[in-house]
Amino acid sequence: MNAQKTVWVTGASSGLGLHTAMALRDDGWQVIAGARSFSGGQKDGMTCLPLDVTEDESVREFCRRAAEIAPPDALVQCAGMLVLGSCEETAVEEFRRVIDTNYLGMVRMNRAVLPLMRERGGGKIVLFSSINGLMGIPFQSAYTASKHAIEGYAECLAMEVKPFGIQVMLVEPGDHRSGSDKYRPHAAAMSDTSPYAAEYESSVSVIAHDEHNGSDPDVLGRKIAHTLDKKRIPFRKRIASPDQHLAVYVHKLLPAKLNAMILRKYYIRKKKPQ
Ligand SMILES: NC(=O)c1ccc[n+]([C@@H]2O[C@H](COP(=O)([O-])OP(=O)(O)OC[C@H]3O[C@@H](n4cnc5c(N)ncnc54)[C@H](OP(=O)(O)O)[C@@H]3O)[C@@H](O)[C@H]2O)c1
Repeated sequence: MNAQKTVWVTGASSGLGLHTAMALRDDGWQVIAGARSFSGGQKDGMTCLPLDVTEDESVREFCRRAAEIAPPDALVQCAGMLVLGSCEETAVEEFRRVIDTNYLGMVRMNRAVLPLMRERGGGKIVLFSSINGLMGIPFQSAYTASKHAIEGYAECLAMEVKPFGIQVMLVEPGDHRSGSDKYRPHAAAMSDTSPYAAEYESSVSVIAHDEHNGSDPDVLGRKIAHTLDKKRIPFRKRIASPDQHLAVYVHKLLPAKLNAMILRKYYIRKKKPQ
């Protein structure tokens, strides 16, 4: 039990962020949750404050209000979104929105929280990456790029903050049946006349199938809560089905062209003639 400990959780209004926040609450943490759809106040035993991680002022205001309640022993960053689309047809503005939310959102939050943790002599920072932080899949380039950025950034961060007693953990989930389609828009330019239309349709339906049949988000929440209870936390925590663990392992071993061939075959399935 961590009765006196406080965790700040971003992206806690739905999906894995909500499941993680609830598991931490059940484990005895005081949870201060942030998301754009929160307007302030208590909900389900958690303090829910408005937070838009793409806005400097919103991050500042969230941290100010949260610190008045209790400074963070841990920060868990789950806020995220993706845009589905081909590299060619996804607009630069759509790439920017994904990178700004998933990656720069973490950078903003860390810049605000690190001084508080240093002053207190330590803390734990959990950054939600993804299996896509380790390997690309077709038609998710903006998301994949944002998660690769998080992976590189976290390695630098962990080395820099170690002397201050701050530990960093990357969570790399495989597919979980938690995500909402509202956070997975199609790039505006994708249409039936796209040169990529057939392969896009196949890929998107495999992605949706895998997520809807993915792992249990409650289990992920409990695993993170259990890990945060420990004095020492690992740098990487992959939480995925056995076949997704295997996919990452194989990806590390195989030459790039063979990997691409296997992944294309998996995501791009030819329609059987009627
Ligand atoms: N689900 C999966 O299978 C899976 C797999 C691998 C990794 N992940 C990662 O896990 C995290 C959660 O994903 P999910 O699919 O479970 O959840 P989700 O249902 O897509 O929820 C996204 C969350 O992020 C918040 N959010 C979005 N933009 C925000 C912003 N600008 N500022 C603050 N909060 C923002 C949303 O709340 P508001 O709209 O209220 O702001 C919501 O709470 C993400 O980082 C995702 O990349 C998920």
